[in-house]
Amino acid sequence: MIKTTLAALALAVATAAGAQDIKARIGTSLPDSHPQTLGARKFAELADKKSKGRIRIAVFSNAQLGSDQQMQAALRGGTQEFTVPSTATLANLVKEFGVIGLPFSFASEQQADAVLDGPFGQSLLARLPEKDLVGLAFWENGFRNITNSRRPIARAEDVVGLKLRTMQKSLYIDLFNGLGANAVPMAVNELFTALETRAVDGQENPYTVVYTQKFYDVQKYLSTTGHAYDALVLVVSKKFWDRLAPADRALLQQAAAEATVYQRQTSRALNTSLRAELVKQGMQINEVPEAERARMRERLAPVIAKYQAAVGEDTAKAFFDAI
Ligand code: PAF
Repeated sequence: MIKTTLAALALAVATAAGAQDIKARIGTSLPDSHPQTLGARKFAELADKKSKGRIRIAVFSNAQLGSDQQMQAALRGGTQEFTVPSTATLANLVKEFGVIGLPFSFASEQQADAVLDGPFGQSLLARLPEKDLVGLAFWENGFRNITNSRRPIARAEDVVGLKLRTMQKSLYIDLFNGLGANAVPMAVNELFTALETRAVDGQENPYTVVYTQKFYDVQKYLSTTGHAYDALVLVVSKKFWDRLAPADRALLQQAAAEATVYQRQTSRALNTSLRAELVKQGMQINEVPEAERARMRERLAPVIAKYQAAVGEDTAKAFFDAI
């Protein structure tokens, strides 16, 4: 009893002084050169600088700590502190996040920023604590395009029959099956081998993922379907967060806000410049005409309706009102 009281007192003193040394880990699923990991490094650097070296966050890229789903589970259990999943996989925990990936919703990155940083995005983050997570910011993965080893996708019909890897989320599985492909869900860290061995014909991701994962070595065609905007979420384990002093939480929130500006700028700059690099690496890139994108959207009307209902009509309405 006395021991417990003394321990609580010691913690309280350390907390009041804001002087605890804190060590934490942030895990990403992509390589060091991808904006997901570059953002994680910036966040760690800012936390270190702002705390004068007291808060040290070690960065583990490339799924070294596990897949997106495994890392989310580790955060919830309190055995890992930070990660940056796509809203698509986060939607397996909090279904409302699925609304972000509804196909053909956003017209630009700036529109996405306004929705995600505004009351709608904040209302999504507010749902995370009930799943033992805390959301600090929305980062960017970007607009997703289809790559494959068989043919350019010039018309909606060209997707039919392709075996396409999708994220492990029912919306994406239904979306590609809805376009007539055979969707094969798997974690991104298994994808290169699946493309190389032709277990799947293709996949869909922004330019930054295609480049940093070297998919150009195993994929010939990239078609600018831009079928969905993908946001990432900087999340922290609630078990860890609740143990921090309020001043440290504020410091990390500020570091997250500054890292967000850098992460989005980096993602946009790279998504622009890497397109040319992919061509240099031998990929054939074709523009998908607007009329064909509109035809894809039409074909997906039943899938969009199904997922509007799945995330909840109120959430879907609030989302479309915010756009
Ligand atoms: O394709 C994926 O799995 C996602 O785009 C990402 C961000 C690489 C991992 O969640």
